[in-house]
Amino acid sequence: MTESTFWSEIAAKARAEHRPFFTMAPMEAVSNTVFRQVVAKAAAPDAFFTEFVYAKGITNSNTKFPVHGRLYVAPAEAQRPVVQLWGNEAADFVTAAAALKEKGFEAVDINMGCPDGTVIKNHGGSDLIRNPQWAIDVIAAAKTAGLAVSVKTRLGYSKLAEFRDWIPTLLRQNVDVLTVHLRTKQEMSKVGAHFEVIDELIQLRDEIAPDTLLQINGDIPDYQAGLALAKQHPGLDGIMIGRGVFASPFAFETTPQSHSLAELLDLLRYQLELFDDFATRYDVPRFPSLKRFFKIYARPELGATDLRNAMMDAKSTAEVRQILNESPDTN
Ligand SMILES: Cc1cc2nc3c(=O)[nH]c(=O)nc-3n(C[C@H](O)[C@H](O)[C@H](O)COP(=O)(O)O)c2cc1C
Repeated sequence: MTESTFWSEIAAKARAEHRPFFTMAPMEAVSNTVFRQVVAKAAAPDAFFTEFVYAKGITNSNTKFPVHGRLYVAPAEAQRPVVQLWGNEAADFVTAAAALKEKGFEAVDINMGCPDGTVIKNHGGSDLIRNPQWAIDVIAAAKTAGLAVSVKTRLGYSKLAEFRDWIPTLLRQNVDVLTVHLRTKQEMSKVGAHFEVIDELIQLRDEIAPDTLLQINGDIPDYQAGLALAKQHPGLDGIMIGRGVFASPFAFETTPQSHSLAELLDLLRYQLELFDDFATRYDVPRFPSLKRFFKIYARPELGATDLRNAMMDAKSTAEVRQILNESPDTN
């Protein structure tokens, strides 16, 4: 456990409301300042994670994986996000955590689940599952600055049963939160999440590290589904939602409502405005990275297929705005 009260306060508030805490998952090119503000406006979770950031890159601008705008937090963001770090060298996590503390961040998370080939080749992400001593060392290193420290991982590298060794190894490090994406690295996202092991995970946590908060991730589409899962598995502390926000940016709303196309397109306009501001500060991300979001708003079931197709051909935010202004759907 760290001395930080960041997570215990979030968990206490949720417990008082008889619910688990909810977070938005770290997602590369998604969980940046722009989209965090969009989701916060639609329906905010209890905490956000940043996209993953190369630990070495935080204090060294000369690495293969530059930080760019990943650490930018807009003044309008109510709460600083949890910064997700990746890497495998303890020294990098010591300097990264100290630098993040200096910048005013309160919590770091360590990525031990990314299945991407480049990340694994560089000994990060799920490569730590195969090298538990690195995992132990980077956790200890991340703790040195006094920030809250959490880990996000998968059940194993190749086989599901690995979780019976791997999860205890992590729990023995006394992290503030352990987030388990209920798949192995090998499974990528091709099979359904293994909800059947949740009770065993809770039991391990209760036996080994009762003060560590346990958060579950994978195939949980929205708040209601998360609430139902937590009711079925008493002892679960947190629910992390990733792709659910693509199905609906209102995924964290506590009382489900239907949202009109006009309401969704207002959110898109807000995202464009935030993106333009972000783009004046950093070269990355560039306009094409916005395209994956258009389908969140211009939904076929709301009759917006033509609008979506027109936006997919656009080359700039100005062009998207013009399409929106000329579309009969938006008035
Ligand atoms: C576009 C995208 C980018 C992702 N980037 C990251 C990342 O940077 N760090 C991380 O730990 N997981 C990342 N993930 C995995 C998600 O955090 C999450 O574990 C996964 O999507 C399963 O949860 P879900 O079913 O709620 O989406 C990413 C997933 C997606 C779809």
